[in-house]
Amino acid sequence: MPRRLVVGNWKMNGSRASNASLLETLSASEASLGEGCGMVVCVPFPYLQQTSDLLAGRRIGWGAQDVSAHRQGAFTGEVSAAMLREFGCSYVIVGHSERRQYHGESSDLVGQKAAVVLEHGMTPIVCVGETLAEREADRTEEVVSGQLDSVLQRLGADIGRAVVAYEPVWAIGTGRTATPEQAQAVHAILRQQLRQAEANAGSVSILYGGSVKADNAASLFACADIDGGLVGGASLNAQEFSAICAA
Ligand code: 13P
Repeated sequence: MPRRLVVGNWKMNGSRASNASLLETLSASEASLGEGCGMVVCVPFPYLQQTSDLLAGRRIGWGAQDVSAHRQGAFTGEVSAAMLREFGCSYVIVGHSERRQYHGESSDLVGQKAAVVLEHGMTPIVCVGETLAEREADRTEEVVSGQLDSVLQRLGADIGRAVVAYEPVWAIGTGRTATPEQAQAVHAILRQQLRQAEANAGSVSILYGGSVKADNAASLFACADIDGGLVGGASLNAQEFSAICAA
């Protein structure tokens, strides 16, 4: 059975002071996490050490929001999977729509990043999702399946050790959440694609992301193929994020 997981993506937000207070409050709420449920925060690179220090000995997982596809060398500004591993990261988000949109990341590059993350013993959280124009042109299935297929081609059976996140671009940071029916329909497509590709991939967790809040989390997470959430804005508020995890 897929693991239940809620991941906070802080994006480019935070400060040493606000991180400390957020992580302290989340740590206090950790006891209310159900058996088999995971809580994870993905923080900006400069805060990895602080996060590692403050979450030592806790059940809350943590990780990064991106990684270089290269192993090492002359790649100014990039951060390698080996460096993330050395810090103790367990998770790395790859292929977030903001990386695809603002940094021109292709699905092939996203597959390479997922592979390098797995090679270093961490879990890639592979994001897929369609834009509003693509949804309105009835291209949702084609787009998300194509994005996932690039990663499947690259990972093969190793996809069983990844997490997939469906994030419709039109729902990110807009307050316009996909309805549970819209999200479930895409999750079911992704689940079937995973199952057909690899025997062990049926149990990959598929998270929904896009304006998840405390008041809509329960109805989304109640859907058969939604195993948790990838949460942006609401993950910066400890009460809100804890409430989403409780859902
Ligand atoms: P919001 O929850 O702010 O819509 O962001 C979703 C997201 O992009 C998480 O990766």
